Amino acid sequence: MRAILVANPKGGCGKTTLAVNLAGMLARRGRKTLLWDLDRQRSSFEWLALRSEDLPEVSRLDAGHDDRRLPRGDSWLVMDTPAGLHGKNLAHAIKPSHKVLVPIQPSLFDMAAAQDFLGVLAEEKAVRKHKTFIGIVGMRVDTRTRAALTLETFLRQFDLPVITFLRDTVLYANAALSGKSIFDLPPSQIERDLEQWQPLIDWIES
Ligand SMILES: Nc1ncnc2c1ncn2[C@@H]1O[C@H](COP(=O)(O)OP(=O)(O)OP(=O)(O)O)[C@@H](O)[C@H]1O
Ligand SMILES: [Mg+2]
Repeated sequence: MRAILVANPKGGCGKTTLAVNLAGMLARRGRKTLLWDLDRQRSSFEWLALRSEDLPEVSRLDAGHDDRRLPRGDSWLVMDTPAGLHGKNLAHAIKPSHKVLVPIQPSLFDMAAAQDFLGVLAEEKAVRKHKTFIGIVGMRVDTRTRAALTLETFLRQFDLPVITFLRDTVLYANAALSGKSIFDLPPSQIERDLEQWQPLIDWIES
């Protein structure tokens, strides 16, 4: 099984949006996909509860599941995490993960909050031993703005790959209302988004 952790202690940076869309994307690509919500707010599981059976299946990994016994085999697990995750709980979540995605928005507050977190991540044993790989995803980025340039400059100081920038669009919120990812929307609506997701899909599957 391959496990992808979505984490950033900053609240509202886009963890759940990224996690459910990753799950929706993997399911749409025919992967056996599991979703695990470590957040007590259960936003990802709420999304899953709204998801129709006609859509590519995303299964829920039960609450209280023992992460030392993650399912084996050819499945993909996406883990959504709560704001404020740090210390032992963070280390615990990183350990079984092959990849950690860090969504960051191009605002001063989000960058300041990410500074420490990215430093801590880089020091994690699994990361230093190259058992876990970290990738950054710019969220709600309009690449024509000064804010986007500032984010790019900020991220250059870390020796971490910036996988892609996802634009600010209501498609994510609208799709989520019916348990959909943007990959469940008509292709004509998501042309630009597919282009932005492609580097992320390549990185995830590499
Ligand atoms: N690319 C995007 N375009 C437009 N809106 C977005 C985008 N990404 C996230 N949002 C919106 O930003 C808000 C916060 O996103 P989300 O809930 O995914 O963040 P979070 O990190 O999971 O928050 P929390 O820390 O509370 O769990 C939501 O209303 C979501 O719809
Ligand atoms: Mg969330």
